[in-house]
Amino acid sequence: MSTAPSGAPLLLGAAAATHDLRHEGRAHLLARHFDLVVPEYEMKWDQVAPRPAARDAVAADALVTFAGAHGLACRGHALWWHGAVPAWLAGAGRAAVRAEALAHLAWIAGRYAGRLHSWDVVNEPLDLANGRSDGLRASPFLDAFGPGYLALAFREAARTDPGALLVLNEMGLEYDSPDAAAKRRAMLRLLERHLAAGVPIQGLGLQSHLDAADRPRAHPALQAFAREVEALGLRLLVTELDVSDARCPRDRAARDRMVAQAYWAYLSGLLEACRPAAVVVWGVSDARTWLATSHPRPDGAPVRPLPFDRAGRRKAAFAALAAALGRGEGARAGHT
Ligand code: XIL
Repeated sequence: MSTAPSGAPLLLGAAAATHDLRHEGRAHLLARHFDLVVPEYEMKWDQVAPRPAARDAVAADALVTFAGAHGLACRGHALWWHGAVPAWLAGAGRAAVRAEALAHLAWIAGRYAGRLHSWDVVNEPLDLANGRSDGLRASPFLDAFGPGYLALAFREAARTDPGALLVLNEMGLEYDSPDAAAKRRAMLRLLERHLAAGVPIQGLGLQSHLDAADRPRAHPALQAFAREVEALGLRLLVTELDVSDARCPRDRAARDRMVAQAYWAYLSGLLEACRPAAVVVWGVSDARTWLATSHPRPDGAPVRPLPFDRAGRRKAAFAALAAALGRGEGARAGHT
């Protein structure tokens, strides 16, 4: 089972949808400035299995094909995520959920076997508020399989696509707060327990949805956590980076400065502590970001969380990102 060699260049990626591929400007940005693409939502279970016994990978295929045609790596996102279980499985019995979840994993991982840089095999497994000693979130997967569902997912993914880096992806590990510190401790215990059992977890994804108003940075506790994860032999990936400006002043220049500072302080500090396999921003440009609906500004002004603005122009955040990654502002990794 191959994992990304630590000598491989750090890949700069972006989440995209086929909507972006049909937009000439954003398709150009994706091909010109990024090394990797990840389907923002069109490879998720609820999207590729819209009805029982129906499978629709047209959009996911288009994104994987676009990546191949433009020399981009492609991440798979996400095999098992409580946030994308098809609605038609609601109320199904445990045996049905087990059968459908395993069939979905085998089908979609098999469909792209050998073509993906990495998979988010399990997404967001932890929720300490659920009160379990192992920190696992209540989910259809935990209910159907028990706490062994993570090991099962990673073993099935490794068997189906041995060439992909197999990643456990999580949110909320990045913050400088007691809750995040507790979540980091639970994540380390989970990783140590699974690795000791020979479960093929090869990478940890830090989603990295940040808030500029918190003045985020890679604080010492996060740096120490990153070092501990790499000491376990895992690759780290920044998988869904964006910086909300919803709680920033209305003034656009001030907001852009705060967002850029967050990109710089988070990424430069993180790269002091580890060597991420990839840094992925959660959108090609401000023109299409999930934060516009999930974290809108109270004043209704368009949000500006990403390195490129709505017109595809580089923002201060792009310069900050490029500087933190030690890249020229135009070049892709390994591309002049
Ligand atoms: C979000 C997408 O950006 C939205 O377009 C979709 O409607 C919901 O999911 N953590 C994750 C991502 O792992 O898959 C989520 O993406 C954002 C939170």
